[in-house]
Amino acid sequence: NDVELLKGKTVVITAGPTREKIDPVRYISNHSTGKMGYSLAEEAKKSGAHVVLISGPVQLPPPQGMEVVKVESAEEMYNAVMNHFGDADVVIKTAAVADYRPKIAYDHKVKKKPGDTFIELERTKDILLELGKQKKKQVLVGFAAETDNVEEYAQKKLYTKNADMIVANNVKAEGAGFGTDTNIVTLFKRQGEIKELPLMSKRAVAEKIIEEIAFLLKDLDEN
Ligand code: PMT
Repeated sequence: NDVELLKGKTVVITAGPTREKIDPVRYISNHSTGKMGYSLAEEAKKSGAHVVLISGPVQLPPPQGMEVVKVESAEEMYNAVMNHFGDADVVIKTAAVADYRPKIAYDHKVKKKPGDTFIELERTKDILLELGKQKKKQVLVGFAAETDNVEEYAQKKLYTKNADMIVANNVKAEGAGFGTDTNIVTLFKRQGEIKELPLMSKRAVAEKIIEEIAFLLKDLDEN
């Protein structure tokens, strides 16, 4: 059984959304519930790996038998991931990280003013991109949440982010993406292999992803 290859390995998994603060009462975020990432954490644990789950704010109970690091913003997630990257054999980036954040985060509630209808944004750090640059004999798995041209964007992410595999989900498809207990994903591997999976529970999707990661680890060990 190839999943045995994960035994004793350190797997870092990010899950959930990030929150980008506008002021003490408002933020920018997205619909991620953490279900996909937490399912991966459970499956990785089942394979005998040492799991570090870096989670944005979600309503799920903290899973047992692993290290759970709670973060809020993209910046905090970046720092947490970088802190654990050196020890990681595998990193899975399931989190829906905000791409933009307010340029100014106020520490008082911003009052309404006539004509005041813009929030100036700036880009957050691209965690996956940075991991791809720094990676050494590590398996890097990214996700792609798309609504259109899923294959094209997923393939592009594979190379621009220097990932070993991209898990693509069309978040507009019924039963896929944010919030549901199921997902429909396609796995794009560096070697050109593409695996289209049917509608399955997120837990079953997670099991498949962990299996593929075991193959990727095997390739790394052999080369
Ligand atoms: O949490 P659930 O409700 O179960 O929903 C699951 C999910 C839809 C969130 C999940 O399946 C998923 O698709 N996660 C990735 C969401 C996402 O942000 O995709 P993206 O295409 O915008 O980003 C691509 C990759 O870059 C992701 O691996 C992401 O973690 C990473 N990224 C993005 C922005 C950023 N600043 N840093 C990053 O590392």
